[in-house]
Amino acid sequence: MSNTLSNTFAADLSDMPDEGSSASKDAILQALSGIEDPDLHRSIVELGFIKELRVCGPNVAFSIELTTPACPVKEQMQQAAHQVVAALPGVERVVVKMTAQTRTMPAIRNLIPGIKHAIAVAAGKGGVGKSTTAVNLALALAQSGAKVGLLDADIYGPSIPIMLGVPEGEGPLGSEEDGVQRIFPIERHGIKLMSIGFMTEKRDPIMWRGAMIHKMIQLMLSQVVWGELDYLIIDLPPGTGDVQLTLVQSAPLTGALIVTTPEAVAVEDVMRAARMFSKMEAMKIKVPLLGVVENMSYFEAPDGTRHYIFGEGGGLQVANAFEVPLLGEVPRTIEITRGGDAGLPVVLAEPGSHAAKIYQEIAGNVARRAATLSVEAREFAEGAPLKTMDELKAEIASGKATPQDVAPRERAGSAGTTASAAEGTREGTRGP
Ligand SMILES: Nc1ncnc2c1ncn2[C@@H]1O[C@H](COP(=O)(O)OP(=O)(O)O)[C@@H](O)[C@H]1O
Ligand SMILES: [Mg+2]
Repeated sequence: MSNTLSNTFAADLSDMPDEGSSASKDAILQALSGIEDPDLHRSIVELGFIKELRVCGPNVAFSIELTTPACPVKEQMQQAAHQVVAALPGVERVVVKMTAQTRTMPAIRNLIPGIKHAIAVAAGKGGVGKSTTAVNLALALAQSGAKVGLLDADIYGPSIPIMLGVPEGEGPLGSEEDGVQRIFPIERHGIKLMSIGFMTEKRDPIMWRGAMIHKMIQLMLSQVVWGELDYLIIDLPPGTGDVQLTLVQSAPLTGALIVTTPEAVAVEDVMRAARMFSKMEAMKIKVPLLGVVENMSYFEAPDGTRHYIFGEGGGLQVANAFEVPLLGEVPRTIEITRGGDAGLPVVLAEPGSHAAKIYQEIAGNVARRAATLSVEAREFAEGAPLKTMDELKAEIASGKATPQDVAPRERAGSAGTTASAAEGTREGTRGP
């Protein structure tokens, strides 16, 4: 989102000519190489984040291209970059513009064109707040400036249209051209929405069997015109059924987000669901777990006091078992229930509330994990190590593209590479 520094100087950045020597640029890059991406643990120069570096007399301008618009450390990074460059001799004025280009998972690009990250939201059983988490996560990502789609794939209880206040009778439009069917998702509160509930009669229970489920899920992915998306959030049915299996087979997911409640009974179920994603060796597919969200961690009374009445520690237990981060603890609050019932989720209805802030934080954490996984997956898929500092400096100084740009994305197109990328992600992200 916007911030003061970049707003104030945005005009200068675009107008300023570049008259800097490569020596002066070297010094600037050297100074910036001391700043690390907190997730990737590498210098922002090495990662190719620095773009449009220009020097004109005592003025320096450049942009830092982050891996996601939802980056929670954006401001700190901007300040740090400003500070180190401003401290260089001869530099008087520094303009740092923050931009973002959501990095694509190499494997996903080929299967769902235009979608950079597909993230499944899973839970061991119903009623733990999976859909509430999916909806608020999707909206919080959209609030940060990302393009977001939400796929309600819960065949047992597709509740997202209600949670987003979609009026009765409203649904996606379809078209058929040359025998090709296309379905256009509806737009709601700035995100694209498609629900399995749109495909059935309102009160009919969905009693599909494996083959039908398989067909439906594939339809949702291949015939729905999602357009360009940074994130497609997929609300799964609870447990470990046909939807999960189909999804994992048909669309390499960036990862699965696990939602659990703090009590022990829920933890058992969720362990099973989580294990399903990470242990599909038989199918040569493993889906990384992005992390765990603990929902209803405590009851937050309207006066702000916390009551731990739902058990304790379930989220952390699951996170530790799979060696993934606990991405957030969401209290049970009146605002969250109200948001779900009223069709206006809490991040929209009460964006300043404690609950909304927690969802925004979770969105930032999810975006960071996805970015980390995609950078690791790309490197693995391409088998190309990052360039040396000297090569990078030469490229950046000459205004040529940075490593992200020249990375041979197209090469990751063959089936063989894709498969190894999918596995590589897992290998690369296992362990602490
Ligand atoms: N943190 C929370 N605080 C208050 N109410 C919640 C919270 N999480 C979920 N709910 C409510 O609990 C019910 C079940 O949540 P839902 O997201 O539909 O669960 P699931 O999708 O896992 O079945 C809904 O009425 C929802 O509004
Ligand atoms: Mg649900």
